[in-house]
Amino acid sequence: MSFDDLHKATERAVIQAVDQICDDFEVTPEKLDELTAYFIEQMEKGLAPPKEGHTLASDKGLPMIPAFVTGSPNGTERGVLLAADLGGTNFRICSVNLHGDHTFSMEQMKSKIPDDLLDDENVTSDDLFGFLARRTLAFMKKYHPDELAKGKDANPMRLGFTFSYPVDQTSLNSGTLIRWTKGFRIADTVGKDVVQLYQEQLRAQGMPMVKVVALTNDTVGTYLSHCYTSDNTDSMTSGEISEPVIGCIFGTGTNGCYMEEINKITKLPQELRDKLIKEGKTHMIINVEWGSFDNELKHLPTTKYDVVIDQKLSTNPGFHLFEKRVSGMFLGEVLRNILVDLHSQGLLLQQYRTKEQLPRHLTTPFQLSSEVLSHIEIDDSTGLRETELSLLQSLRLPTTPTERVQIQKLVRAISRRSAYLAAVPLAAILIKTNALNKRYHGEVEIGCDGSVVEYYPGFRSMLRHALALSPLGAEGERKVHLKIAKDGSGVGAALCALVA
Ligand code: GLC
Repeated sequence: MSFDDLHKATERAVIQAVDQICDDFEVTPEKLDELTAYFIEQMEKGLAPPKEGHTLASDKGLPMIPAFVTGSPNGTERGVLLAADLGGTNFRICSVNLHGDHTFSMEQMKSKIPDDLLDDENVTSDDLFGFLARRTLAFMKKYHPDELAKGKDANPMRLGFTFSYPVDQTSLNSGTLIRWTKGFRIADTVGKDVVQLYQEQLRAQGMPMVKVVALTNDTVGTYLSHCYTSDNTDSMTSGEISEPVIGCIFGTGTNGCYMEEINKITKLPQELRDKLIKEGKTHMIINVEWGSFDNELKHLPTTKYDVVIDQKLSTNPGFHLFEKRVSGMFLGEVLRNILVDLHSQGLLLQQYRTKEQLPRHLTTPFQLSSEVLSHIEIDDSTGLRETELSLLQSLRLPTTPTERVQIQKLVRAISRRSAYLAAVPLAAILIKTNALNKRYHGEVEIGCDGSVVEYYPGFRSMLRHALALSPLGAEGERKVHLKIAKDGSGVGAALCALVA
């Protein structure tokens, strides 16, 4: 075989391998039906009392955690409250002023979580919560020095704590960590009350005036802040009214919450349900923790790359398997694993003879960020120059134009699978709550936050496309309004602290 023939044969083999992978990433309408039906089944199971011997920590089903929030704000709420937000790569502390007219103003301080708190296995809860308290102190010094100076004599300032990890919530201001997700691995936090841990460190740092009065998840915050900011009161004039029904996050992680009828949350003790209903409460927010959908892999599409990422590379093997196919933390990791595999099969990046010679960034887990994929996704430059630059800058990885065409196909298959799967929980919740057949024309709003839904090019259109292919159908999809609800974690936590 001549060199040219050999080259052509390799190119054909690459295309064939890549097309096969893209096929494996396809989510068909039949799959959407199957997954949506299973999601509804799992939601129902998660609302019922656990089987004997099962706990939220041991169970592989949907956690469906009652959030102890029983009402939605209407935008008239007022007050100045503190909010702290731990959920991904940053810790944020804010002072939120709710103006009572759907608007708010906010001062905030954001700090990157130091890498050693994430990577080092010897880190303790005190290290992490000590860091949070020190950042809170820096914030108080800058924005509330008078309160700080008054010490114990100050009027307590109410703080809502958005803690975006699975927590077994026991009341509005207490909950124990079920397990870490999104990279943390501090073993001694699991099973502890995160409000207490934070409050103790605040006390230790001389802040008795800061009272953590509410604990919430970022999805709950997103839902509440969306309710607060969206002005639906002029339904008479606008003709249409959309009801907020879901708060969701598609970012580093993915998750959502919705309002469920208290009567249906049968895992809540009967006395508590009776008491709430007597008080006139009918609904409670459920934090679905949908990252954990189908941890048993009965229906989720699974490729060999998903298995390696979960079992060998993630910090929580066997859990959050839906998240590992959908969220921003994993999109780049899926691509990285495919590229390394295609290289090992002699199909791509053949200028490197062995795996050891590949650029270190390409062989290091979680070094390829979803932001790089977002550049590749929409690259229409000649020879895919943007892609070339992006891969050079992020991974120091040179590529040929033909390799880049294949890489772009892979990127699009990965993001499409993510967006199609993302439609499943939304369709399932809308069907289960019958939201599209209620009130007015059944128009519904979904408050979303997170880097993927906000910035990944085409994500929202692909998601909508999948909603139309799902059991909701095109007519159902048209009634769904996806709204970006920015800053949910801050405003939502403040709203929680206000009602606590
Ligand atoms: C992870 C967490 C969940 C959070 C989501 C989005 O899935 O377990 O609590 O809401 O990420 O940040």
